Amino acid sequence: MSKLPNAEEHRKADYPIEPLFIKRWSPRAMSGESLSDSEIMSLFEAARWAPSTYNEQEWRFLYGRRETAHFQTFLDLLMETNQAWCKHAALLCVVLARKVFTHNGKPNPVHLFDAGSAWENLALQTARMGLVAHGMAGFHFEKARTVLKVPDEFAVCAMFAVGRPGNPDELPAELREREKPSGRRPVQQTVCEGPFGGTLAR
Ligand SMILES: Cc1cc2nc3c(=O)[nH]c(=O)nc-3n(C[C@H](O)[C@H](O)[C@H](O)COP(=O)(O)O)c2cc1C
Repeated sequence: MSKLPNAEEHRKADYPIEPLFIKRWSPRAMSGESLSDSEIMSLFEAARWAPSTYNEQEWRFLYGRRETAHFQTFLDLLMETNQAWCKHAALLCVVLARKVFTHNGKPNPVHLFDAGSAWENLALQTARMGLVAHGMAGFHFEKARTVLKVPDEFAVCAMFAVGRPGNPDELPAELREREKPSGRRPVQQTVCEGPFGGTLAR
């Protein structure tokens, strides 16, 4: 297993925070090794404890482990640019969110928000375990719905790949250059006390 670059060498928080937030990033280099069942379940366990409206737990995860026939099915959902590095992942996953409330069947306006919380829990757990997680919008959403038989009351939110860290030198050249932890705009461009304005980035 390759060693992950230390994100803390590339990133600095402007205000004190839990170091895990800086440690998590989205490498593409993965080793092609599998994960154990227990490692996989720890990731989904982390997602399980995300907050949600009415404790709806709208998120659902459909996944394929690389050592099963499902893996190719999930790989085939991805855009070619993502397939190029995801073929070395240990697990590919589609995130779903239930669009309606269980108690009354009415639309739940925060189903995507809550599913995003669950994904981030999982991503942070992955970082804590020295593994790699990488979210993806670059896949065929409708194909995912059809191939994976997703019921209408669930939104297809995103995909992600999880794996053990790999060797960046084995990535295609254009991806190799991007294989480092990214920065962020200053917090002042993200927050505004009161109505929209001030220093908020457009
Ligand atoms: C929902 C979502 C979709 C993304 N889609 C892709 C994608 O299709 N392909 C890709 O290479 N990276 C994708 N990314 C990774 C982002 O580019 C990455 O998270 C962002 O640049 C911030 O970098 P960091 O995660 O390393 O902090 C996606 C991330 C998220 C959360």
